[in-house]
Amino acid sequence: MTVVSRLDVSGPEYGSRRAAMLAKLADLDAEHAKAVAGGGPKYVDRHRDRGKLLARERIELLVDPDSPFLELSPLAAWGSDFPVGASVVTGIGVIEGVECVITANDPTVRGGSSNPWTLRKTLRAADIALQNRMPFVNLVESGGADLPTQKEIFIPGGRIFRDLTRLSAAGIPTIALVFGNSTAGGAYVPGMSDYVVMVREQAKVFLGGPPLVKMATGEESDDESLGGAEMHARTSGLADYLAADEHDALRLGRQIVRRLGRRKAGPPPGTAAVPLFDEDELLGIVPEDLKIPFDPREVIARVVDGSDFDEFKPLYGASLVTGWASVHGHPVGILANARGVLFGEEAQKAAQFIQLANQSRTPLVFLQNTTGYMVGRDYEQGGIIKHGAMMINAVSNSTVPHITIVMGASYGAGNYGMCGRAYDPRFLFSWPSAKSAVMGPAQLAGVLSIVGRAAAEARGQAYDEEADAAMRQMVEAQIEAESLPFFLSGRLYDDGVIDPRDTRTVLGICLSAVGNAPAAEPAGYGVFRM
Ligand code: COA
Repeated sequence: MTVVSRLDVSGPEYGSRRAAMLAKLADLDAEHAKAVAGGGPKYVDRHRDRGKLLARERIELLVDPDSPFLELSPLAAWGSDFPVGASVVTGIGVIEGVECVITANDPTVRGGSSNPWTLRKTLRAADIALQNRMPFVNLVESGGADLPTQKEIFIPGGRIFRDLTRLSAAGIPTIALVFGNSTAGGAYVPGMSDYVVMVREQAKVFLGGPPLVKMATGEESDDESLGGAEMHARTSGLADYLAADEHDALRLGRQIVRRLGRRKAGPPPGTAAVPLFDEDELLGIVPEDLKIPFDPREVIARVVDGSDFDEFKPLYGASLVTGWASVHGHPVGILANARGVLFGEEAQKAAQFIQLANQSRTPLVFLQNTTGYMVGRDYEQGGIIKHGAMMINAVSNSTVPHITIVMGASYGAGNYGMCGRAYDPRFLFSWPSAKSAVMGPAQLAGVLSIVGRAAAEARGQAYDEEADAAMRQMVEAQIEAESLPFFLSGRLYDDGVIDPRDTRTVLGICLSAVGNAPAAEPAGYGVFRM
């Protein structure tokens, strides 16, 4: 059924919501620009003066002309001591018609070395390749481990090489195009890849450079004889292809993918009518104050094909909207929070709906705006824990692909029931209006205050009201800052913060990516506590 929109696009409410969202998007653009700037003009100029392409330029030349590249986690490392973007670019791009996961070190940022956030971002990219059975293409030029933080990355970083060989074992091709340094542990990126291309006079792949070799064995050597592209192509056999230059390496990368003979396992998309309502209006739906509810049908109307949404159980558990639709021709089941709080009815409705989607092997999209499950005597006595557990059981054990969009609030166990990061959705994106935390900042500060007051009373001491007010203010500010999407995206708790207007496109790319893998085994649930 076509969604009926009640959005008043000429009203003041819409205008102020839109203005607030545009301001947040301007901030987002500024943060994305930091990632794109890499190591800044000095290092970018030096890199260009060496006749080299930047990481994003390499990707652009690798993917099909005019095809989209869905960059993932561009804000990685935001709020940390490391530059925004974490010295690596990752994402999904189409090469010779094949959807691939692509990673590219950014050599302008500390020599492209890997810090703890680089590691998380790289491992996430490998997970996406494995879960969705997409070829994994690495554009390598890295100074290896960020030496000052080696303790954070050396031991867990071994997973990079394990993942490469596991991808290969799972029948997922791995390709390394080596543009520069790939030394020490980094040598195992080409070492573990199915296909290796090295750029003449640029690629350097060795376990130890000349100084280390001199220290270890006393042998005098040079870069080229230890690990040059020419040597690896003619002598060691580690390079399968010797590229004349960077453009040639990218051409060879495309040639390799063309010959892989990849075929998608999932069904092709059906026909897709554009939504009847303008996606630009997605900017004016979410209120700045997330305590004010909004109707997620207004979002659904602007995201799904033809604004056609068949609502399931519309009269029951009205705080959660569930129903069937398609996005870019891919059928989906949608669960969307309507009034923030999840009651027992909503939890049971969600559990049933998730089981139905599993019966029909339909991917699920979660649109989050929840303050969590309802608390209070009546609700506890009514079994809210059991009902929430039922929903969390269904989400945890469902085997159809899940994609989560955090539109607004994502608090408490609502984050779990609505398929937050810990529930392994295939992809999770946030809008700039999103906020996630164990509870709202004011509530959290209030709880601390009540606990502190009770503890003081128990000790027979007077409670310091002035200190309490200061504590509340400080805690509220801290929790608010830690709930914001840039901060959470910086920690890789999502795959990126997106413009709400791009939601349909992003979902379309993700649903198409998901279709590379065959349908998973039917779900087997744990014991549903009734
Ligand atoms: N850890 C931390 N910082 C690193 C680094 C690393 N592995 N590699 C490079 N950097 C820093 C440099 O100190 C330099 O910082 P500065 O500009 O503030 O002085 C910046 O990144 C750029 O490095 P630079 O050497 O000027 O760049 P380059 O493009 O000429 O050379 C490398 C890049 C990677 C070839 C070179 O930096 C290098 O050999 N690094 C060490 C490689 C290594 O042995 N890594 C350990 C592997 S486990």
